[in-house]
Amino acid sequence: MKIIDIYSRYKKDLANIEKELESSVQSDHALLNETSVHLLKAGGKRIRPVFVLLAGRFGNYDLETLKNVAVSMELIHMASLVHDDVIDDAATRRGQPTVKSKWDNRIAMYTGDYIFARALGVVTRLPQPEIHQIMSHAIVEMSVGEMEQIRFFFHTGQTVRDYLLRIKRKTAYLIAISCQLGAVAAGASASVCDKLYRFGYNVGMAFQIRDDVLDLNGTEQQIGKPPGSDIKQGNITLPVLFALQDPQRKVLLLEQIESIREAEGQGDVTPFLEAIRRSGGVKRAEDLASRYIDRAIEALDGLPARQAKKDLIRIAHFVGNRSY
Ligand code: IPE
Ligand code: IPE
Ligand code: MG
Ligand code: MG
Repeated sequence: MKIIDIYSRYKKDLANIEKELESSVQSDHALLNETSVHLLKAGGKRIRPVFVLLAGRFGNYDLETLKNVAVSMELIHMASLVHDDVIDDAATRRGQPTVKSKWDNRIAMYTGDYIFARALGVVTRLPQPEIHQIMSHAIVEMSVGEMEQIRFFFHTGQTVRDYLLRIKRKTAYLIAISCQLGAVAAGASASVCDKLYRFGYNVGMAFQIRDDVLDLNGTEQQIGKPPGSDIKQGNITLPVLFALQDPQRKVLLLEQIESIREAEGQGDVTPFLEAIRRSGGVKRAEDLASRYIDRAIEALDGLPARQAKKDLIRIAHFVGNRSY
């Protein structure tokens, strides 16, 4: 299934959000304008704004209100990507050169800051301090998650728990609050907001696990960047942690990881990727992602049977199997 098919029902509102996104990053400063529009134009799935809109369907749906949440969520996401590509030393994103590679790290730093600031400008159009605080907290958690990732680079002794805590912070939380805040902004009850939060959290966990699997077994065309980027950088992800639990494979894998570390991003990681693909690690990670998807869908129990609920479930299934 293509995600775009699920979106078709919401085309008009999404087009409206897209326009607002464009105008929200406009700047009189030519370079800031160019760097921030660059990532926006490169595309992306816009899954966070879609979650905001769908969650808003469980309250009083008002596009003008929800738009502010949807746009600021996508801007926070985009800002974090610009910074993430500095941390990950990534050359491509969404199939295009990253800001850090097209310009440089310093430009990327301030482009990210600039987009964060625009997100703040948009969300504060809404009067509820609760919404501002939840967003602030999400950015704090994301920063902690990315910092933890740096701290754990090449730590082969880390646990699955370390990994799960990290991806909760860097990814799942933002997706969780996209669902929650769509409902909050639409004035839904606390119990509805909570269900949607739990849906988003579980989808978010599966989302990052899939992202990490795809970095190991996807193609450059699918993922918009060369596979193996994570391990080159030292990011030990779930399939690798599972593979390392196999005593028959552990010694060879540790040797491979050590030589990747010594090559400082220059070596060939193909033999490592092949070793991981041959291990049961990918399958175990995929199974865990499916369990998160099941939990996400369970979290929706008790919500009224609206079209939006069906579409949330369809997107959850897409995330569990996604190849881009
Ligand atoms: C990429 O997010 C970063 C992660 C949290 C894995 P997306 O996969 O949502 O990126 P775009 O917006 O579609 O490019
Ligand atoms: C997601 O991490 C980025 C953030 C949550 C800030 P990744 O580094 O795994 O994402 P990609 O693979 O670069 O999109
Ligand atoms: Mg990255
Ligand atoms: Mg990263």
